[in-house]
Amino acid sequence: MNIDLVRQDFAILARNVNGYPLVYLDNAATTQKPKAVTDELQQFYASLNSNIHRGVHHLSQEATAAYEDSRSYAAEFMGAGTGYTVLFTKGTTESVNLVASCFSALLRKGDKVLVTVADHHSNFVPWQQACLRTQASFEAVPLLPDGSIDLEILYRSLQESPRILALPHVSNVIGKVNPIKDIIEEAHRHGTAVLVDGAQAIAHLPVSVNELDADFYCWSGHKAYGPTGIGVLCGKNAWLEKLPPYQFGGEMIEDVSVERTTFAALPFKFEAGTPPIAEAIALKTALQYIKAIGFDSIQEHEENLCRYALDRLEGIKGMEIYGDGKDRAGVISFNIRDAYHYDVGLILDQMGVAVRTGHHCAQPLMRFLGIQGTVRCSFAIYNTLEEINRLTEALGKAAKMLI
Ligand SMILES: Cc1ncc(COP(=O)(O)O)c(C=O)c1O
Repeated sequence: MNIDLVRQDFAILARNVNGYPLVYLDNAATTQKPKAVTDELQQFYASLNSNIHRGVHHLSQEATAAYEDSRSYAAEFMGAGTGYTVLFTKGTTESVNLVASCFSALLRKGDKVLVTVADHHSNFVPWQQACLRTQASFEAVPLLPDGSIDLEILYRSLQESPRILALPHVSNVIGKVNPIKDIIEEAHRHGTAVLVDGAQAIAHLPVSVNELDADFYCWSGHKAYGPTGIGVLCGKNAWLEKLPPYQFGGEMIEDVSVERTTFAALPFKFEAGTPPIAEAIALKTALQYIKAIGFDSIQEHEENLCRYALDRLEGIKGMEIYGDGKDRAGVISFNIRDAYHYDVGLILDQMGVAVRTGHHCAQPLMRFLGIQGTVRCSFAIYNTLEEINRLTEALGKAAKMLI
């Protein structure tokens, strides 16, 4: 991988912020977009724009073919065989809400839903609300002191055969890659369905839903070099056929009369109304971009960045890093003892370094760690060791100013 060439694809990386060249280390929030993706969006509106699935005219048919081609590509990208269907959604949040809302129809009082304390609010609150509506019981698997999921308790909880387990593939706070293949195997042994939140995994490691045997796998395009407003819910056909529709309206019906409505086959049953067409088409371009670089190179590069950053960060006065450092995918959360995370983030921004501060939509995890928030840096394919030097120099200054 030629990092200089890669960086040339991302015009925004040449920006100055507060008088310094931008160092963008907030990739877990959203990644930057390569020129190929922004070109694709522009090209759609310049030469292809029309609504899909409902026109006999040429433009509509071309746009429909491009949209459906992107769906097939996304399925192939995530190793989804014929037993799965890819649905386009707005993002991970909508994907989880779709499943939680539809799955509620199957939940009864006394059923159990299992999540983890490591889950992003997007994969926590929808299930909590589903349980409130249905009187199913809601349980969150606790963590080990390093912030990773307590697998012993998780496996014990699975013995009670919860209806569904929802968990992250990769933690958005400590970057931990969870052993989801083993967890799914164990869950299935107890008749438990599994929804995997892949928001922090899809751009960083190869995913095969077939191999994982996940029942549902969710992610967002904007965290994988694609546009905002487009995401994926990949689900087993057996489940998607059993679940009722999520929203009602155009395109998701088979036949409508005053007496009754019947619904379209998959995937259309779950895609009511006009979808984000340009974004779905440009998502394929983003995935092609990732594929062209290849996960071997991506993982090697991001692991190098992580190792180097952990090493440099440890040298900073008062540094407290969360997570055990093993199986980490490009995310590092930390605090400088006695310094407020927000103040650290502001000082870094003054020096052109963009990081995330706060609870990262993971308040149960923060409560568990006994903290209000962290500073989080997160890496992508275009980050460099020099940028980590800029981060650690800026942190050194912040530590001097704040403690
Ligand atoms: C692990 C995880 N799950 C879900 C989400 C929500 O993604 P979105 O806001 O794109 O729906 C995020 C976003 O940060 C995340 O990191």
